[in-house]
Amino acid sequence: MKMEERQLKPHAIIIPLPHQGHINPFINLSLKLASNGFAITFVNLEFIHQMLSKSHHINATNEFDLFAEARKSGLDICYTTISDGFSPEFDRGIHLEEFWKSMLQNFPARVDEFVGKTIKSDPYLDSFLVIDTFFSWASQVAEKYNLVNVSFWTEPALVFSLGYHLDLMKENGLFPLKDNTDKEINYIPGVQSVHTRDFMRYLKESDFATLSNKLAFMTEVKKADFILHNIVHELESDTISALNKYQPNYAIGPINFVKNSATVHKSLWSESDCTHWLDLKSPGSVLYVSFGSLVHTSKCVIEEIAYGLLLSEVDFIWAVRAGIVGSADTNGLPDGFEDEIKDKGLIIPWCNQITVLENPAVGGFLTHCGWNSVMESLWCGTPMICYPVDFDQPINRKLVVDDWKVGINLCDDTSVDRKEVAEKIKYLMGETSSKSLRQESNKVKETLRNATEIDGSLERNFDQFINDLKEKIH
Ligand code: UDX
Repeated sequence: MKMEERQLKPHAIIIPLPHQGHINPFINLSLKLASNGFAITFVNLEFIHQMLSKSHHINATNEFDLFAEARKSGLDICYTTISDGFSPEFDRGIHLEEFWKSMLQNFPARVDEFVGKTIKSDPYLDSFLVIDTFFSWASQVAEKYNLVNVSFWTEPALVFSLGYHLDLMKENGLFPLKDNTDKEINYIPGVQSVHTRDFMRYLKESDFATLSNKLAFMTEVKKADFILHNIVHELESDTISALNKYQPNYAIGPINFVKNSATVHKSLWSESDCTHWLDLKSPGSVLYVSFGSLVHTSKCVIEEIAYGLLLSEVDFIWAVRAGIVGSADTNGLPDGFEDEIKDKGLIIPWCNQITVLENPAVGGFLTHCGWNSVMESLWCGTPMICYPVDFDQPINRKLVVDDWKVGINLCDDTSVDRKEVAEKIKYLMGETSSKSLRQESNKVKETLRNATEIDGSLERNFDQFINDLKEKIH
């Protein structure tokens, strides 16, 4: 790409949070913007870049370019990295809190320097920022360099709205929420009803001052010029309409399923192939189990789920990553479990989740309710058993089970019991018992598919965003 050609285009500097569940939608957003004529600079943290290189079996990390294929197909995407200041050996998953503290305190100066250099070297491009909403420093960088600030939120609008209306909840005397008493809230604009028992853990555990500090990004996002949401308009239309009264918000999901001219292999870990195993199973007979890329749970929970799976006698694939029980060298499964399951189950550390869910043999998903997993399951019309662990997951569970009726709860409290696990699995996988869940799942699947059609809500909202953005930039 010649420099003069780049200079004619608006240019997005895109920085995702360094987690698989955020990188995926950011990559798809980048491809979508690039296919609409934007120049992109996509920035990964160095350790993410190293993980990607490793998962692609490339030894020299400087040879790896995430968007090489995309550029071959004519998209103008430049790929680069920034250091987070930690050594490659530092285990960011295990030391998540320490890592995050530094991401908020030391990382902004690195980004500031990077953005300054980037726009200086490309002075004629109309640059703007697309930053993960969780990065509270985005508005300062945008202000300093006088750049349009686009914030990208990769979780449900309901979760966003709760954080956004923190002061309103305080005015209503909600905080501190330290006891376990459940309260129903029906005063948040666009949210008919939500219970505090479903709140994210961080809303429940802190006094108001600590909470405001933790959610500083929710104050900062109020300075963003545009807010993009990886949600499906039809599924959260009241919430997003209410938010639109304050700032321009756009529902551009399910962004991971937009058809692109280029494929990007974005997995942070090597994917085990499950297709051969699945192809021997009958349609709808296999339960897929995964708790995503980030959360930890106890060895006891993993064991109860493992024995629950055996008791259910249902065939299953379990993508269980090393580190899930907090220690990097074990997946927490009981000794001998893998021998015991024989060909009833397939245990793998990581797979291509969408390919697995799309296989006709898969009939259910036992999930931690990470937002990408939920969207992927909805896309495939696969009903879910919900075991939310942390972050937005309890609210995502409410949407899946209580609002959209496409899933069931694993347990009503925090204790997981193998007999209950087996019962829930049998219920979900049973043709008669899960009939209405499957009907609802198919309806929601249609909604998602329609959203990505040429005249669907995703495309309409995306076009609107691009028009509004171009008007603001020029
Ligand atoms: C994190 C948070 O934990 C979650 O609550 C939030 O909604 C998004 O960020 P994560 O826990 O990793 O994400 O879950 P999820 O959002 O489901 O994202 C996981 C991604 O990894 C999905 O896109 C899924 O397809 C992919 N995946 C998972 C694989 O490709 N292979 C696997 O074996 C497991």
